[in-house]
Amino acid sequence: MTQNLTVVDHPLVQHKLTLMREKDTPTAVFRQLLHEISTLLAYEATKDLATEPRNIETPVAPTEAPVLAGKKLCLVSILRAGNGILEGMLDLVPLARVGHIGLYRDPTTLNAVEYYYKMPDDLGARQVIVVDPMLATGNTAVAAVNRLKDGGARNLKFVCLLTVPEGIATFHDAHPDVPIFTAGVDERLNDHGYIVPGIGDAGDRMFGTK
Ligand code: URA
Repeated sequence: MTQNLTVVDHPLVQHKLTLMREKDTPTAVFRQLLHEISTLLAYEATKDLATEPRNIETPVAPTEAPVLAGKKLCLVSILRAGNGILEGMLDLVPLARVGHIGLYRDPTTLNAVEYYYKMPDDLGARQVIVVDPMLATGNTAVAAVNRLKDGGARNLKFVCLLTVPEGIATFHDAHPDVPIFTAGVDERLNDHGYIVPGIGDAGDRMFGTK
């Protein structure tokens, strides 16, 4: 397995992903499955969060127990499909700050073009987890992380539902310091930059816009 890549191959994740892949899965079910998988991906991506001891009292006895240390998380959704992952992750970390970055893929060049950027101002002090369901060409993810590093982010992770070897290579050529967490690594991209076999257009399937 490539360094800095975690494939979450838990049977529940793989089962839900297969249901998402099926072209006849209805929009509401697709959205619910993405929500559920995202919570499980969040669990993996937050495994190394620092903790510190706190003195507390249970109904039975005083004790020392761990709580999250320091500044917490900032989740960054790459609009619009990132919002599907964001919501599932927020179930697990409801106190996380949330940033949004709007990037669309130019259909001809497949390059990322920015149209929206809104972040909390202390990005540099937070663990930043960037989310987008599909790490395909990698261009959008690279552009988002470039922008976040320019904005002060230092400690980043990237969470996606699916990726392909060429997307991982492009992303890690640009950002070898940013670990990727995904539910699957598919075969390849087709001529339109879609992941094969993939799930189709994540945004369209999530929001029923086709
Ligand atoms: N974006 C999508 O929504 N699907 C893909 O397969 C690739 C990029």
